[in-house]
Amino acid sequence: MTTPLLTLRVRSLTWEAEGILGIELVPLQPNTLLPAFEAGAHIDLHLPDAGSGAHIRSYSLLNAPGERQRYCVAVNLDAASRGGSRWIHEQLRCGQTLAVGAPRNNFPLDEAAPLSIFFAGGIGVTPILGMIRRLEAIGRPWRLHHATRSAAHAPYVRELQALSEAAQAAGRDGALNLHFDAERGRVLDIAGLIATLPADSHVYCCGPLGMLGAFEAATATLPREQVHLEYFAAKEAAATGGGYHVELQRSARSLQVRPGETLLDRLLAEGVDVLFSCREGVCGTCEVKVLAGEPDHRDLVLSAAERAANTRMMVCCSGAKTPKLVLDL
Ligand code: FES
Repeated sequence: MTTPLLTLRVRSLTWEAEGILGIELVPLQPNTLLPAFEAGAHIDLHLPDAGSGAHIRSYSLLNAPGERQRYCVAVNLDAASRGGSRWIHEQLRCGQTLAVGAPRNNFPLDEAAPLSIFFAGGIGVTPILGMIRRLEAIGRPWRLHHATRSAAHAPYVRELQALSEAAQAAGRDGALNLHFDAERGRVLDIAGLIATLPADSHVYCCGPLGMLGAFEAATATLPREQVHLEYFAAKEAAATGGGYHVELQRSARSLQVRPGETLLDRLLAEGVDVLFSCREGVCGTCEVKVLAGEPDHRDLVLSAAERAANTRMMVCCSGAKTPKLVLDL
């Protein structure tokens, strides 16, 4: 089912750090309440002209969960931008309106954890900032290790310092470790930090692929329910090999996914009505029920147990391990 898009106005744009632009989006009518969101949620911005044919980009909400008068996100100017972040940095202006999807959450916060420890790389601090605001609101302890190239590349430092001071003034753990790679001459030692954590801590990571890989390796032996991470994009799309056959059971159709194309591309080319958003395996919009066959899961939405069950798949990036898939479409 398609959720109607919101039309929101860009109220402010702020330069938060080197290459990072903050965007505050508000309803067109004052006193209108926006859909509520939880810590870790993201919204999709539908950009009018991203210059690449792919116009939807997902960004984490960084303002306090519970705030319903505005949505705040931050956009890093990606040197390899396919149009999205470049368009936002170069074309977006205050006062413009944007179509925005309602918040969704693939990176939820466990509010009951005895201690929440966050590892953020660069712009990856944005969902974590929302999580820390929430933990402060409910009086729960946290620690943050935030790694950036330099102080100039570190966004939201003032906000994080204020949250850390508030936690410590209340007698809670709220330790803030700002790690500038250039100053220290090395990257953050995630393995060393994880090795010394209290055993029942919940650990979270959001950042670039290298950091997430180090985090995954360092947390491999921790109980899965204590480990939380968010990728910005799937590591790699499924290889299609010589292609594979797909049956759409509800519509009694079949189709052949060709080498080099994604299942989503084939479905769209055949006129099948399937929802999608990020096209990168992170948002969960393109999820489809699997009735038979084994998908080659490449998304970052499903848990290990959900992947093993093989009852759902993200058609934008995942493929098939078996010659045929049967989908509930
Ligand atoms: S479109 Fe976002 S996960 Fe497939």
